[in-house]
Amino acid sequence: MSTFKAPKGTYDLIPPQSAQYLAVREAIAAPLRNSGYGYIETPGFENVELFARGVGESTDIVTKEMYAFETKGGDRLALRPEGTASVLRAALEANLHKAGNLPVKLWYSGSYYRYERPQKGRYRHFSQVGAEAIGAEDPALDAELIILADQAYRSLGLRQFRILLNSLGDAECRPVYRAALQDFLRGLDLDEDTLRRAEINPLRVLDDKRESVQKQLTGAPLLRDYLCDACKAYHEEVRELITAAGVAFEDDPKLVRGLDYYTRTTFEFVHDGLGSQSAVGGGGRYDGLSEMIGGPALPSVGWALGVDRTVLALEAEGVELDLPSTTSVFAVPLGEEARRVLFAKVTELRKVGVAADFSYGGKGLKAAMKAANRSGARYALVLGERDLAEGQVQVKDMESGEQTAVGLNEVVAELESRL
Ligand code: HAM
Repeated sequence: MSTFKAPKGTYDLIPPQSAQYLAVREAIAAPLRNSGYGYIETPGFENVELFARGVGESTDIVTKEMYAFETKGGDRLALRPEGTASVLRAALEANLHKAGNLPVKLWYSGSYYRYERPQKGRYRHFSQVGAEAIGAEDPALDAELIILADQAYRSLGLRQFRILLNSLGDAECRPVYRAALQDFLRGLDLDEDTLRRAEINPLRVLDDKRESVQKQLTGAPLLRDYLCDACKAYHEEVRELITAAGVAFEDDPKLVRGLDYYTRTTFEFVHDGLGSQSAVGGGGRYDGLSEMIGGPALPSVGWALGVDRTVLALEAEGVELDLPSTTSVFAVPLGEEARRVLFAKVTELRKVGVAADFSYGGKGLKAAMKAANRSGARYALVLGERDLAEGQVQVKDMESGEQTAVGLNEVVAELESRL
């Protein structure tokens, strides 16, 4: 061990487990790529104001959890706590919305940073794969995203997840509800912090996990009963489209999200095997965000799925991903000349697309065969001095143990056809 450890709340992805993370990212991305979403990558940090305005000045993310800092040049930046504000900023900056093809559909994958209290499933550095559909107000788009997330989880073999769905209304109906909720909250026996929160961001109080608060919240007005006709119709259509697609969901009239930009459709994917950090993904519509960050009106919708928690969910369900071994051929040279010849063969194999590895460090036969075994390769190529003199190499089938001599000039083509 070195003097240093990974910082608190972080962990390293190392083989072989790291292969699971790659597979999860790939499984989430596949349905998106297949549905017209283009890949976007933005910087790991942004102007801090982008998140303050986008995610919301009063959210926990902005007030407590952001890694904000000033650079030597005096710029005020923050490590990105989420992806939506950055992706929208980048799309606006590149004028993607003016290219005349709305919605602009984008997907991304990367690291995000929140200064949270670490616990299982909650880290200070974590990984998301996300999707944003920018510039269209169409319930089918909301439905598409929910269906694609469902498809991603199912393709991984996950079953014990649930989809919670709600509508947060719009600029017309939410203020009316907000006032009604505030009136209700003012009449409760709440501590000072919570009362303050009720004044600034009353919807967040609904999300308070404490039993003493939850008990008092029975009978709280629900946004569902305050939705304007347009929001109601929109939400009904989203529900119908998801239902028609055979995707099961639960209406959760108390679902609020930790970011302020949401309007209308909001949803969360929760997994029942994860304990308190049960949200494996979440998202919704954010029709006002573009204007909040200085852009034109661009109604949009998106989600982000947490890769770390999805891996934990797989573990909780006991799902083993079927990850084929990455190495197909492992080459074992015995002697100096054999090393040169076989190294060239490995390079040739790789050029024709056969995954090959090599026994480095001048190991003896026994140690080298152990390494071949560990690599998971289907075939070992063993080249000794006698084989070399006869212009052949031993091809050992690692499953059956069967060994055959193949001409050195033929071995690449032979392995290509066998694999
Ligand atoms: P979020 O709900 O804050 O939404 O995060 C999405 C997912 O990221 C969570 O469900 C969780 O799986 C994972 N996640 C968040 N924080 C942590 C953490 N500290 N440790 C481990 N995993 C974590 C967003 O970020 C929105 N940008 C989603 C969105 C996209 N809405 C519209 N478009």
